[in-house]
Amino acid sequence: MNNEIIISCNWKMNPSTLEEAIELTQNIIQYSKHIPKNTKVLLIVPFPFIYCVSTLIKNTNILLGGQDCHSEFLGPYTSGVSVSMLKSLGCSHVLAGHSERRQLWKDTNEIINKKVRKILDNELYCILCIGENKTEYEKGQNKEICAKQLSECLYQCSENDLKHIIIAYEPVWAIGTGLNATTEIIEDVHNYIRNWFKEHYSETSSNNICIQYGGSVNPINVSSILNIENVNGVLVGSASLDSEKISKIMNYSI
Ligand code: 13P
Repeated sequence: MNNEIIISCNWKMNPSTLEEAIELTQNIIQYSKHIPKNTKVLLIVPFPFIYCVSTLIKNTNILLGGQDCHSEFLGPYTSGVSVSMLKSLGCSHVLAGHSERRQLWKDTNEIINKKVRKILDNELYCILCIGENKTEYEKGQNKEICAKQLSECLYQCSENDLKHIIIAYEPVWAIGTGLNATTEIIEDVHNYIRNWFKEHYSETSSNNICIQYGGSVNPINVSSILNIENVNGVLVGSASLDSEKISKIMNYSI
């Protein structure tokens, strides 16, 4: 069983200037020096800041990731960013299927599957985001939606590919709302996701897959979330932009 904890910081479309991004990165480098053992910090930053952040975190244990990628390798796709570009800048991880991409850019499970394939083909780690929206949650469909997203987004992914896949369960209704899912919900869905891998792949893959929780994670709730069975890390949005809050999150105690 993998007992590594990943604290992933998804800056989304923030901060507004490179200077602020540098200051935030420098603070995070400072705070990362005393984090608990078995913990890794991953900065998932906007494309324009990747090169600079990559330079700043050189010689630290901090990892770098992209927030999305194009579903094609290279070519005439104005504004597109390919996985090979991200890799050449020092990214080891790329998000795919974030709910904001699904909602605002209309990324479907089929498109997300193509992105997952590109990330795997470039030997980077893919953080696949899944989770139900408010209506689906109210209808009690959270596990059903997660299962559909897993099977469609991981279409044609082999057991070997899973070594490069991380799942982030982010209930859409808990993102940016201050409403984080209860311990019971997180435990129930994370157990379900782990079992899904046992059913569709193997016990070994199921034991090894890293499952993160995201949605209104903050310094107060982080320890109890990380204490839940089958939670291997958190994907933090707004709190990751506040130096004091992210310092407390990175130095959680369980
Ligand atoms: P918040 O932490 O702001 O709710 O965002 C969560 C998220 O979307 C991380 O990817």
